Amino acid sequence: MKLNYANMLNTPGTKIQITAQELDAQAPQIKTLITRLNKGEGDNRDRGVPMIGWQTYARELTAADIRKIQDAARKLADSCEIVFIIGIGGSYLGPKAVIEAAHGKNYNDVLPAKLYFIGCDTDPEFYAHCLKMAEGRKTGAVVISKSGTTTEPAIAFRFVRQLIEKKQGARARDYIIAVTDAKKGALRQLAAAEGYRSFVIPDNIGGRFSAITPAGLVPIAVAGIDIAAYVRGYIEAAPLIDSADLYQNPAALYALLRFLAWQKGAAVEYQVTNSSFFESNLAWTMQLEPESEGHQGHGLHVAPAVFPRDLHSIGQIIQQGPRNLIEIATKILEPRADLAVPESAGDTDGLNYIPQNKLTLKDLNNMAIDGPLAAHYADGVPNMTIELDSITPFELGRYHYMLMKATALQGYLLGHNPFIQPGVQFWKDRLFALAGKPGYEKQTAEYRKNKPEKNIISI
Ligand code: PA5
Repeated sequence: MKLNYANMLNTPGTKIQITAQELDAQAPQIKTLITRLNKGEGDNRDRGVPMIGWQTYARELTAADIRKIQDAARKLADSCEIVFIIGIGGSYLGPKAVIEAAHGKNYNDVLPAKLYFIGCDTDPEFYAHCLKMAEGRKTGAVVISKSGTTTEPAIAFRFVRQLIEKKQGARARDYIIAVTDAKKGALRQLAAAEGYRSFVIPDNIGGRFSAITPAGLVPIAVAGIDIAAYVRGYIEAAPLIDSADLYQNPAALYALLRFLAWQKGAAVEYQVTNSSFFESNLAWTMQLEPESEGHQGHGLHVAPAVFPRDLHSIGQIIQQGPRNLIEIATKILEPRADLAVPESAGDTDGLNYIPQNKLTLKDLNNMAIDGPLAAHYADGVPNMTIELDSITPFELGRYHYMLMKATALQGYLLGHNPFIQPGVQFWKDRLFALAGKPGYEKQTAEYRKNKPEKNIISI
């Protein structure tokens, strides 16, 4: 894995000017902040708990811990035709990212036990579809919720649990794995009462940093992916990613460059890749960074893009729209397959030059990052590229640890706690008021009284 940041510096045509001298000047500050983060110091507590466990969790996992997860996951996958993976936010995006990276978006084409992610939405059509899919088929579930009370997955689990209990009766417990907190949460109590196999998300690891815990590892293992290699990725990345030396540490450079770009007026960050297998990793980053940074008016909006596909829609605005953006590409250097572009008699589409220049699809796919990024840089879009050698569980482990560290450091640079998300309570409160949740009677009455009826037009 490499970080190529040449295009973040001295970009023409934009106020987002970053120089090598500025990086040099910030190196001592970075050293101090990384050292504090490594030691668990700084503004990092959620309800009194320092949320820094993700930095050491991989090293603390024993071979027996990993085996226990693998055994439970294999047993579930082997005994089911369908497994529902229930979770949302940090209890959903990490495993989805790894599973799609390993097996592609159409993972159910290759997996013997089909996986359905549910509980990350409330779409009745999708629910009805999933429940219909499960009709007459052996069904299991991995339910992931640290709190156990998050509305969306808790609703999904009601449906799925009912379905499994109806089919399996007293044996339902054999078809359900719960991943939740160690002691306090509602799901922990239910798991204990019902006798579900269960795994723990530690108190000191928040949702968006939890892909390395059973929240990620259990579903990843259900999909038959080598979780030991994924864990090893974190462990082997740590000496570099924990280094306090700015120029040794890609996470530190990544964080500092994004921070400087934001300070100089960047508002949007396109997270770009040239791999459709990798697309869900962009969705994972779209939670990790904004939920950690978007406090007190700070932070970059993160938008995903797969090149070349999305260049044919947003390519124009990136090239010539407002100059308030940066791009971060993740390029896969060695895909698991490559194809020669066929020569065509007559060359009617004028593409025979591609095979004649000995370019394969892999070469073109890498150029679909390098060419556009050079053009965007020339027109005022600072950009950098993470080069992943290949998509393997090991590389994904290294990549995830790097971005987690960069995000935590970014919060420290911005001067706020990156491990909490106080803002999300506001929309939750509004939704609860709409739905009439007990405890929200006053807000519900107010909403019903002031329900907006003006400024609506029928079409
Ligand atoms: O990052 C976070 O903390 C959130 O995205 C949570 O992961 C998400 O809300 C799900 O929470 P829980 O695991 O408690 O159901």
